[in-house]
Amino acid sequence: MSTQTKHTALFGFGTVGQGFYHYLAENNNDKQLATIVIKNASKSRIPDNLNFTTNVNDVFQNNQINTVVELISDYKEAFNIVKNALEQGKKVISSNKKMIAHHLEELVELEQQFGGKFLYEGAVAGSIPIIKIINEHYAFDEITEIRGILNGTSNYVLTQVFEKGIGYQEALHQAQQAGFAEANPAADVEGFDALYKLLILTTHAFGKFITPEKALNIGINNLKNSDINFAKANNLKIKLVASAKSHNNKLTLSVLPTFVDENDDLFHIKNEFNGVEVVSKNIGSQFFKGKGAGKLPTGHVVFSDYQNVEKTTYTYQHVPSGKRLKYETKESIWVYSNKITLLEKYLEDVVLLNGPQGYGSIKIADLIKAKDLLNLHQVSVIALSENVKQKLFLQLKHKIQLVYA
Ligand code: HSE
Repeated sequence: MSTQTKHTALFGFGTVGQGFYHYLAENNNDKQLATIVIKNASKSRIPDNLNFTTNVNDVFQNNQINTVVELISDYKEAFNIVKNALEQGKKVISSNKKMIAHHLEELVELEQQFGGKFLYEGAVAGSIPIIKIINEHYAFDEITEIRGILNGTSNYVLTQVFEKGIGYQEALHQAQQAGFAEANPAADVEGFDALYKLLILTTHAFGKFITPEKALNIGINNLKNSDINFAKANNLKIKLVASAKSHNNKLTLSVLPTFVDENDDLFHIKNEFNGVEVVSKNIGSQFFKGKGAGKLPTGHVVFSDYQNVEKTTYTYQHVPSGKRLKYETKESIWVYSNKITLLEKYLEDVVLLNGPQGYGSIKIADLIKAKDLLNLHQVSVIALSENVKQKLFLQLKHKIQLVYA
């Protein structure tokens, strides 16, 4: 492919689109860009002298275009673009996590059927090349757990609230201004964005295609000041933790606000940074940290996919082993809630603290069922990491002993 041919079409010129274009121009590859498809022709653009169009046919009826970089926010439109491009055997790069989480299995089939290419490093964990790490580095080991902070916006909000005492709304506004948040920030704070990313990683690490409706995501939107104070009083932080784990041929996964202590790497991840721990059979635990959102960090991984599109292929090598794993939602977890009694009918075990606050053991499947109820009453749920549970329960024991001494 001649580097002078205009063989590339870019869809979208928002935060990530502009980031991608920055690297394209900086590396003198902008001559490869045939057109940039945008939705709104009247919006002012910087630079404004590029070949913008609102007509998708400029791409799909142009045989010279063999590479499509899809960076729009509408996930349904994104799906149509990527599907059409793959059906034409084109090389496709996308960062649309929502679209990929909903349609990955079908898109991989199209990639294989029509001989195109589909890469999407920019969809997960911003600048951390986590898909590449799993795809290449972990091809020779069995991953047993992936656990991390995958949403920069929520982590930014939690950091500001915890460390600077800024209000939730104000912190979210700052994250939007900085270009970290989704067009609709509910996707960030309700844990959907982290779930989409977790499901993409689950496919690569465990070989399972699981769609979002079947999985648990609880976000940071119902957290209360009393929860923050409870965490601080116990030297803990609350982080939005996405985790997928295999155990005894079962795969469990969740996105939940989680109490973490200072011994946990995630405790130290601040602002828009992401952090991912990968645990595997022979290597043990490894931890990766990097900027999880923003124009240049995300634009960079998209550009890296673009530059390496010929030589990179996702092999989905863990997919055959995934057949042995059963996706399981009947596993129980321990959570804290500011109104644990709301979950009464689902709880297997309960420890009441002050008034309505307390700990409870609950099946993941029941938390999925209880999600609407929790949102309706704006009740918080915070998972206890194993370390933290032991500490908090030990404390409880001491208190009980004191009362009865
Ligand atoms: N809204 C996303 C986040 C952008 O905050 O992590 C990066 O995917």
